[in-house]
Amino acid sequence: MRPSISKFQTDAPFFGCPFCSAALTFAQASLSCANGHTFDISRKGYVDLRKRPSESSHYTDAFFNARLRMMHRGMYSDLVDRLSEVAQHYGPGGTSVDVGCGDGFITRALGMTAGIDISLEGIRVAARGGGSVLWACGDGAHLPLVDAAAAYLLNVFAPSEYSEFSRVCPQGVLIKVVPGEHHMQELRKAIGLPQETHSEAIALFKEKTTLLYQCDAIQTTVLDSEEERRDVAQMSPVGFDRVAADSGWEDLENITTHSRILVGRLP
Ligand SMILES: C[S@@+](CC[C@H](N)C(=O)[O-])C[C@H]1O[C@@H](n2cnc3c(N)ncnc32)[C@H](O)[C@@H]1O
Ligand SMILES: [Zn+2]
Repeated sequence: MRPSISKFQTDAPFFGCPFCSAALTFAQASLSCANGHTFDISRKGYVDLRKRPSESSHYTDAFFNARLRMMHRGMYSDLVDRLSEVAQHYGPGGTSVDVGCGDGFITRALGMTAGIDISLEGIRVAARGGGSVLWACGDGAHLPLVDAAAAYLLNVFAPSEYSEFSRVCPQGVLIKVVPGEHHMQELRKAIGLPQETHSEAIALFKEKTTLLYQCDAIQTTVLDSEEERRDVAQMSPVGFDRVAADSGWEDLENITTHSRILVGRLP
């Protein structure tokens, strides 16, 4: 059997059925629950655990490919370095899940067990890189995981459903990243968007977890080609609906990423 399929054979129950919440077990290139719901595992190394296909106009193939290229270009290398340190220090050993993993670059860099994202386009881009990560398409608001499936969770620039986080990772560690106030400041200026502080997301994190640690990662990357400028305009929600041909991003000379890393203990 291909490793891209056999890697889904886990020792303990891990994925949960999106329809009935029962544990999914591995058999013949698929995952099924005791109530007869079955999900085929793709030879490409992922499984689609959505209740029904969901369309997203924003999170497209172009978005994830542009994001992945800029990840490889090192635009988030400071964030990845800081996250690796934080995960080593605060992340207990054991099973780890990246919720809202997108193209999977960070998931893979941190050696996570699984990456889950609601976008099938994102999961396909992530799985293209091969390797042992269990990629699953699923909704973070109803995680397709059994109770207490994970020892720690990662959640980078993606929505958080804290009741689900506590269900799948009780008393575990949550590492969440939100944009800092300088994030993508050159692009925001070029397309006429004000900066945001994301103070509500930070306050909610502090309400829902016991804060263990926080720090910032910030870096500025020089953009030396039109392709890179276009990738920057396409790879961020900042550009959604705004990146028209004449919006000004063509003149970007550099781009700043500013990430706030929050580490908390879930109830
Ligand atoms: C800005 S991207 C960040 C992706 C990745 N964490 C990274 O930093 O490159 C936000 C991601 O959240 C995902 N997302 C949005 N709503 C979601 C949901 N309800 N469940 C799971 N993923 C979701 C999107 O599909 C997208 O991949
Ligand atoms: Zn089921």
